Amino acid sequence: MAARRKTITQDDLKNFMTTTHTSTQPIGIFDSGIGGLTVVHALVQALPKEDLIYFGDTAHMPYGDKPTATIQSYAVKIAHMLLQQECKLILIACNSASAAAYELVKEYVNGKAIVMNVIDPTIHFLQSTHAHQSVGLIGTRQTVNSHVYKRKIDELNCGIHLYSYPTNLLASAIEEFGNHPVIDAILNEYLSQQELSTIDALVLACTHYPVIKESIAKQYKKFHHKSIDIIDSSNIVAKAVKQQLEDSELLNQHGIGKKQFYVSAYTETFAANAKIFFGDQLSLDYYPLWD
Ligand code: DGL
Repeated sequence: MAARRKTITQDDLKNFMTTTHTSTQPIGIFDSGIGGLTVVHALVQALPKEDLIYFGDTAHMPYGDKPTATIQSYAVKIAHMLLQQECKLILIACNSASAAAYELVKEYVNGKAIVMNVIDPTIHFLQSTHAHQSVGLIGTRQTVNSHVYKRKIDELNCGIHLYSYPTNLLASAIEEFGNHPVIDAILNEYLSQQELSTIDALVLACTHYPVIKESIAKQYKKFHHKSIDIIDSSNIVAKAVKQQLEDSELLNQHGIGKKQFYVSAYTETFAANAKIFFGDQLSLDYYPLWD
């Protein structure tokens, strides 16, 4: 079996170490909308003392249908904003942006913060739990067409057979309706694919999808008459962020866990969902992302 692939290279760490960082600096997280909130929710459980700054690029949601270069330009602008806020770590809490822009954001950030994505921790999890199995993946067109999961899994040579299927409408429907019965009609169409019947596990390769995890499990069972592991990467990613902060000696163990949310367009659905996750006290500000 090939050696375990590291998310952060020695060069990244060397660059990072030349800039002074302290554990009290915030963690920056971004997504196109509410999807990244599923990751923030897991981060709050794993790292209750950390200050978090979240950016939801609601003005440009959905990312999944946009050209790679467009997503890259949004991602770099958001990373710039998070650097201005002195984040010690920037987490791309969006599969589409992780697929399209992780390398570029890392280059742009150039060691001024640690940059992480949601794909690498999930790949490492799959390697340790589902080697030599058949794994399905649903995500946006950007994520699926990038073939990034397949490429990284194949590099590990762990015998996972990956079947990826684009479920493009889902993220926008979740952003609009949350966990609502209307979603079942869309799932009916996507999850009835015959190719999905042989899989042992299904990766939710879009950070919006954990919001409807139960419906996905139910609809899958309805069509394929079996239960499978539904892999929600939010806890996996939160664990990887914690590990990275520990390794870099940047874990904040004495903070107050302040949370600040920004959106590029104010939407009722974002505000409502953020409240469901984090209660009434949350601080939500408008921050336009110039085009
Ligand atoms: N939450 C996102 C992802 O993980 C983005 C969905 C979208 O904006 O299309 O891919």
